[in-house]
Amino acid sequence: MDKCKICKTQTKPVISFGKMPIANGFISSLNADEFFYDLKVLFCPNCFMVQLGQIPRPEMMFGETYAYISSTSSAMADHFKQQADEIIRLVSKRKDPFVVELGCNDGIMLKHIAEKGINHLGIEPANNVADLAKKTGVRVLTEFFDQKSAQKIARAHGPADVICASNTLLSIENLNSAFEGFNILLRDNGLLFFEDPYLFDIVSLSSFDQIYDEHIYYFSGHSVRELAKRHGMKLVKMNHQDVHGGSMCYYIKKGTAGRPSAQVAKWLKKEKGLKLDRITGYKRFKRNVDNICRNLKNTLKKIKSGNNQIVGYGATSKSTTLLNYTRIGPKTIDYISDNTPTKIGKFTPGMHIPIKAHSQFTKDSPPFTVLFAWNHKKEIFQKEKDYRKKGGKFITYFPKVTIE
Ligand code: TMP
Repeated sequence: MDKCKICKTQTKPVISFGKMPIANGFISSLNADEFFYDLKVLFCPNCFMVQLGQIPRPEMMFGETYAYISSTSSAMADHFKQQADEIIRLVSKRKDPFVVELGCNDGIMLKHIAEKGINHLGIEPANNVADLAKKTGVRVLTEFFDQKSAQKIARAHGPADVICASNTLLSIENLNSAFEGFNILLRDNGLLFFEDPYLFDIVSLSSFDQIYDEHIYYFSGHSVRELAKRHGMKLVKMNHQDVHGGSMCYYIKKGTAGRPSAQVAKWLKKEKGLKLDRITGYKRFKRNVDNICRNLKNTLKKIKSGNNQIVGYGATSKSTTLLNYTRIGPKTIDYISDNTPTKIGKFTPGMHIPIKAHSQFTKDSPPFTVLFAWNHKKEIFQKEKDYRKKGGKFITYFPKVTIE
């Protein structure tokens, strides 16, 4: 019963969102079959890992037609260029370095490594995005990463100097196997460098929409340090990033030598301040989530009662949790504008809100727009300066419902 996926200790419940469809399961027709599962979050009091209870099979989430394409945001493109620069710096003193990226998506980061002529390999299970990466000149292996594939890659390409992953490790259910794979594939002085949404930000902002099927784990310095230790590795550095509503970049060395940087102690202390190492820290999170949902529903109801059009901005995976938990659907939100070609013309999972091209948003200039892509607020406010100047209002909801 709900044992920790990492250390098998009995977990404690954090929050339950009820029946959920697949977050990226945008449907082409309203008659399409949809798969629902129980979305609930658990906390392990032993290794501090915050994790999902039930997980849909990976093939249900990342198949032929995975909808998320990294390069739709220019801010993310800039972010990954900087990340590539950091990786190039990390390997700069090494002879013929080999860089492996797990979940390279459309090559948004790895193409910069490839451009520098650095030996590299992307590992990407979703065929459609892997094909996009190949077009940018990136070498890609289309499969899931585990101990077996690590052995295969090590045999074919030799040991890796750096293994990196962004928004990927959180989706690998068998993390113990992945870490064993890192130990196999990394050179003795090799480094694992990974970035994922940061639990501290999720709890401080109450940004519960980060919780969905693809995000099996919600990492903190506490849980990552334990996980690394379990596999004979060491967390040596943490570097906070402003992307995806607050992310953390973890640097993990193979072996147990070396001292962690002062940043690690700083973040661990901050996490303790929020009580993320105890179940009590998550009680307030649940209360805050329910308050936000109530306020958002009331705000939209009031606007709608004045006969105002409300649309959404960004058919994000995140919004699947928000929309299905609050039961906000097409009676409230006419449509969601999105710039991803593969999403336009489809309907959101579960609540079935139509997704339309951005040109429709520009044409309608609706009085109220719910910013589902809230993590891209800076970029979108910049892009939609005219809309706001003309009186258009954006509604955001973390850490509280705001109309601006
Ligand atoms: P993400 O939050 O998972 O990055 O998804 C953002 C979604 O929002 C993605 O479907 C693309 C969409 N989007 C727009 O439609 N316009 C924009 O300007 C940005 C930045 C994102």
